[in-house]
Amino acid sequence: MSFYTIEQAPARLNRSELAVPGSQPSMFEKAAQSDVDVIFLDLEDAVAPDEKEQARKNIIKALNEIDWQGKTMSIRINGLDTHYMYRDVVDIVEQAGERLDLIMIPKVGTAADVYAVDMLVTQIEDSKSYQKRIGFEHIIETALGMQNVSEIAAASKRNESLHFGVADYAASTRARTTIIGGVNQDYSVLTDPAEDGSRDIHWGDMWHYALARMVVAARANGLRPIDGPFGDFQDVDGYRAAAKRAAVLGCEGKWAIHPSQIDLANEVMSPSEAEVTKAQRILQAMTEAAAAGKGAVSLDGRLIDYASIRQAEVLVEKARQIANG
Ligand code: GLV
Ligand code: MG
Repeated sequence: MSFYTIEQAPARLNRSELAVPGSQPSMFEKAAQSDVDVIFLDLEDAVAPDEKEQARKNIIKALNEIDWQGKTMSIRINGLDTHYMYRDVVDIVEQAGERLDLIMIPKVGTAADVYAVDMLVTQIEDSKSYQKRIGFEHIIETALGMQNVSEIAAASKRNESLHFGVADYAASTRARTTIIGGVNQDYSVLTDPAEDGSRDIHWGDMWHYALARMVVAARANGLRPIDGPFGDFQDVDGYRAAAKRAAVLGCEGKWAIHPSQIDLANEVMSPSEAEVTKAQRILQAMTEAAAAGKGAVSLDGRLIDYASIRQAEVLVEKARQIANG
């Protein structure tokens, strides 16, 4: 290990994160009753300009009055390039800051963006003498944000998580697609012809680099990497496949843009019983190996060593976190 210690963000379950438009208060109660880990009440892209002010009021009322059943509560403020953003922060943190756990900053581009919101939130918290500090979630969804992702991840002690915003990222990088997340048949590999002339097409994951890049920046700074939206909420298998790819890369959670995606995210982002049992067997085998003075042994025909202990501990620790709610 490096001599440098990575400080970890506060541990929170973040397997699923439900987007709820602030302009749709009729959806709030159902969200509160759901099994989701984190809810973000949206002021940004799901809210039309004429509804922004009313959405803010709805959110303040809802944060103060609804029983959110211990869920982690976040708001997605408007971008720093809009005049809505300062009022989103001032009004909501002043009037409902004690019930707010996180602020989600969309389209964050530079470390200075984070600094600016941090300064504003700090002043409000101090003036209101709040005891709790609000954390930050950042959506990495522009070319600029991805270019500066490491600096953004390190920009504030409030930082807790990075989210991959695939829709805006596609727009910002001018990717030739109009769907939200998922794969694209044009991003494929055509195999060379076989002897009989036949060729196969292997679909690829066009978001792989972006997601993997974000995961590294998040983990190097002790933050949770979270995969963003999957627009086709009727495509259960497509959602599950995307969530699994994200989990395999190191993401801890995925957005739900529809309540039906909550259970899918919770399921995929929780290690299975078989995975946890395997991890426990690795830990057991390595304890026995250490007692016998060995650093590496074989388990089920495969080599395991001290790195296997660290891999297994990640899974066991995650299972413990989920069991403790
Ligand atoms: C989320 O905000 C996205 O743009 O995908
Ligand atoms: Mg977006």
